[in-house]
Amino acid sequence: MSILIKGGTIITAADTYAADVLIENEKISQIGTDLAREGAQVVDAGGKLLLPGGIDVHTHLSLPFFSTISSDDFYTGHKAAAFGGTTSHIDFATQRKGETLKIALDRWLKKAEGKAVIDHAVHMSITDLRPDILDEIPSMLDAGVTSIKLFMSYVNVYMLDDGDIFKIMEKAAELGMVVLMHAENGYVIDSLIKQNVAAGNLATEFHAKSHPAWAETEATLRAVALAGITGASLYVVHMTCEEVVDQLRYGRERGLPVMGETCPQYLFFTEDELRRPDGAKWVFSPPLRTKKDNDYLWRALAEGHLQSVGTDHCPFLFDGTKPLMYEGEPYQMPGKEMGAGDFSKIPNGTHGIEDRMLMLWSYGVRQGRLSPNRFVEVTATNPAKIFGMYPKKGTIAAGSDADIVIWDPEATKTVSWKTHHSRTDFNIYEGTELVGLPEKVYVRGTLLVDGEEWYGKPGSGRYLHRTPFAPII
Ligand code: URP
Ligand code: ZN
Ligand code: ZN
Repeated sequence: MSILIKGGTIITAADTYAADVLIENEKISQIGTDLAREGAQVVDAGGKLLLPGGIDVHTHLSLPFFSTISSDDFYTGHKAAAFGGTTSHIDFATQRKGETLKIALDRWLKKAEGKAVIDHAVHMSITDLRPDILDEIPSMLDAGVTSIKLFMSYVNVYMLDDGDIFKIMEKAAELGMVVLMHAENGYVIDSLIKQNVAAGNLATEFHAKSHPAWAETEATLRAVALAGITGASLYVVHMTCEEVVDQLRYGRERGLPVMGETCPQYLFFTEDELRRPDGAKWVFSPPLRTKKDNDYLWRALAEGHLQSVGTDHCPFLFDGTKPLMYEGEPYQMPGKEMGAGDFSKIPNGTHGIEDRMLMLWSYGVRQGRLSPNRFVEVTATNPAKIFGMYPKKGTIAAGSDADIVIWDPEATKTVSWKTHHSRTDFNIYEGTELVGLPEKVYVRGTLLVDGEEWYGKPGSGRYLHRTPFAPII
């Protein structure tokens, strides 16, 4: 069936213009004025904006972590994403010690089977580099995996040493793959956590004190330098503060192939949240910093020093001792309560996949910090370009997948975990007023969300094969 969206204003990274959009066979087939197509379903978008579906390139669905598992799976996380205007995401297939990359990839793709509703890809997260793993990396390209995630932190869990990181980056440069980096100095953090625990400094705020900004700054410069030596494209995830972004800028000013992301939580909150009685909701790594950093990150996004906004969506229940009802079914899993009385045991991570576009529109675009075009660029177009999905994804153009959000700039809502769609028993933005919301959300021309109605069918989301040698933005 064809769909003709009439009367809307299209916003891309480059343009704002009034036009009709015709969708046929999952693609945008035509864009123009006064379009007509016999038999097409006509959708009135008068007074509304047409945005490309958002792309969140940093999510952790069903991630085993801190002896539990993140609480959104490939159905609940996708439903939350769609209600937030996000129509594609990239998760992390995380290699276990001793495992091959193929086994890790297959295990991750199975998690999506029969559940996925939006389109999805995976980065390969290498945690155990052996000679056979180095040899296996090229086969990832056949599977459409064009990016590798590495950790400079989480000693004895995910962290690799500089020698291993260097070898992987050399290989990535040769193959045109992007390396995503969690840049924090793991040895420093491990020592500080141990020191604080031994000294009885167990309150939640010691999470931030054990992850100082200089540990992130040092690791970021190290990652940038390794990109300089190897020529690998580097994408530094979840950047939190000015001195860290300075390292990226230092590399970019010297022409290095380095790019960076921040996440909504670093734009809205400070380490003060950790002193609240429910501060565990804001425990993630790297931690929250200062108000000055919030302001700096907004400017860095607007001015192009940061290229993308991901979410690091990795939610855990706040009170995993009680079941949470989701679509009429009880869900229970250990959560943040595991760290009551000891910050070092709080599972690291929070939600964001549903909130990202909503918060960025209301508090970025509406408050004049980002233009609507820059909003599209950092939430959809740049993520698609950097990770080898453009122009299939990330824009509204003839030939692109019909991933379209009809956005009502005047619609309002108050954020609450009671009405959000993520499988979490809290929302860090609880009580926040939003102005500007998705009204209809289409993935490849299929309507998933219409106002409060949900039409998503588990299993309809598709795996995205990506292409290497993507541009540096
Ligand atoms: O606290 C976080 N960020 N949890 C998810 C894993 C990671 O480091 O990205
Ligand atoms: Zn991380
Ligand atoms: Zn992450």
